Amino acid sequence: MADKSLNLVCRNSLFFIFSVATLFFFLSWFFLLGSTDGPNFIENPNPNLNPNPNSNLNPNPSREVGRQIHVRQQREPDAGTCDPKNAILKVFMYDLTPDFHFGLLEWQPEGNGVWPDISRTIPDYPGGLNLQHSIEYWLTLDLLSSTLPGRTAPCTAVRVLNSSLADVVFVPFFSAVSYNRYSKPRPPEKVGRNKVLQERLVKYLVKQEEWKRSGGRDHIVLAHHPNSMLDSRMKLWPCMFVLSDFGRYPPNVANVEKDIIAPYRHMIRNYVNDSSDFDSRTTLLYFQGAIYRKDGGFIRQELFYLLKNEKDVHFSFGSIRQNGISQATRGMHSSKFCLNIAGDTPSSNRLFDAIASHCVPVIISDEIELPYEDVLDYSEFSVFVRASDAVKKGYLVKLIRGISREKWTRMWERLKEVEGMFEYRYPSQKGDAVQMIWQAVARKVPLVRLKLHRLKRFSRYEDGSKPRRFSRFDVRKLIQAETV
Ligand SMILES: *[C@@H]1O[C@H](CO)[C@@H](O)[C@H](O)[C@H]1NC(C)=O
Ligand SMILES: *[C@@H]1O[C@H](CO)[C@@H](O)[C@H](O)[C@H]1NC(C)=O
Repeated sequence: MADKSLNLVCRNSLFFIFSVATLFFFLSWFFLLGSTDGPNFIENPNPNLNPNPNSNLNPNPSREVGRQIHVRQQREPDAGTCDPKNAILKVFMYDLTPDFHFGLLEWQPEGNGVWPDISRTIPDYPGGLNLQHSIEYWLTLDLLSSTLPGRTAPCTAVRVLNSSLADVVFVPFFSAVSYNRYSKPRPPEKVGRNKVLQERLVKYLVKQEEWKRSGGRDHIVLAHHPNSMLDSRMKLWPCMFVLSDFGRYPPNVANVEKDIIAPYRHMIRNYVNDSSDFDSRTTLLYFQGAIYRKDGGFIRQELFYLLKNEKDVHFSFGSIRQNGISQATRGMHSSKFCLNIAGDTPSSNRLFDAIASHCVPVIISDEIELPYEDVLDYSEFSVFVRASDAVKKGYLVKLIRGISREKWTRMWERLKEVEGMFEYRYPSQKGDAVQMIWQAVARKVPLVRLKLHRLKRFSRYEDGSKPRRFSRFDVRKLIQAETV
């Protein structure tokens, strides 16, 4: 009896001690969290209050802190003269000689300057299909103008002349126009200028202080044309590429974590004051493009045979050349849905033509990567269909016909809201493609910084500046056909 009650007392007091300890544990945990207030624990919210701004460990801790906060907030500063302190992205741009950029547009430098005075005249970019990949032109103009007084465009990215102050390093090589216009050797040249420029670029880059510091990891290289940078892309693998898709890159050279997907500049005219509706758009489904493609493009042919007898489905052949644009514009402006099918690359300009036409995109391309998809939900205005489903008899038409007027109208409204995100222009405007791309770059900056800090761990042993090559992967095998 006595044993039992003693036992009970013991158990009770043990239980009591345990309860008190648990309570203390939770209370202290609660107070600790409350006092440190989340991110401020590591990030001093006020850079001026940094206790030791001259610490040897980090030559400029206040700048470090300020940058992180700016990237986090993603805010677009007021229009006016750009103050680098308020920019979400500080960009150092190499002063490459004009033959890498505006010289390819037949601009002649005056004196020793390498950049045109864009406050007076802006060299033209070649028109037609060249414009699809003209991102190099718009981004460079935006950077150049970021230091001009009285700027009207948002100051998302600002050019800084001291690379130590920059978040990223911009390589202003107009690689798409170089590929489009200067691939073939022009006698007496033995080698095409496009190839020569790429060799010179790599040689130049690896000699730069900025490259040596980062091994290229914070460098932005534009290669929007799938065949641009063909001779140098493997050597520039650490860089952040701006691409149209990853179709012709091995995953260790370019991937969605490290690199940026940017939209094509659409060829179809915008549908200004679009007052169409579900009924006035009489074509159910519209497709224009080359039908017989190699590689992933076989699905176009399959779909053509499946759909050719549907009376409100329009299939037309051939890419949109200059004279076909008004016809395609009329077609897309009067269709409810526009097909975007994988061609010889996963992406194609049809998607961006569809968006500009407010024609709901139907995307059949399993490998496609989309611009700014981390902040934009494409399913709100597009229909995705797996290629394996799309080629089932009757599947696609049944799916599309099953989309109600209300659902279609919601997607059409959303298209009108998002179309601005795909517009390239100069001067750039709030939320357009230029600003969206800079913001996408800014979102990668923490990852770049992580990589740079890791790189420094053993920097006393290794020289990070030497570009490694992925030589066993033969990129040329991927490139058998021309792009759409
Ligand atoms: C660039 O910025 C760094 C860090 O603030 C500074 O130490 C350096 O003197 C600057 N260089 C020039 C040329 O102004
Ligand atoms: C669109 O509508 C606005 C306002 O009604 C008008 O000023 C403009 O000219 C129209 N644009 C076109 C291309 O019809």
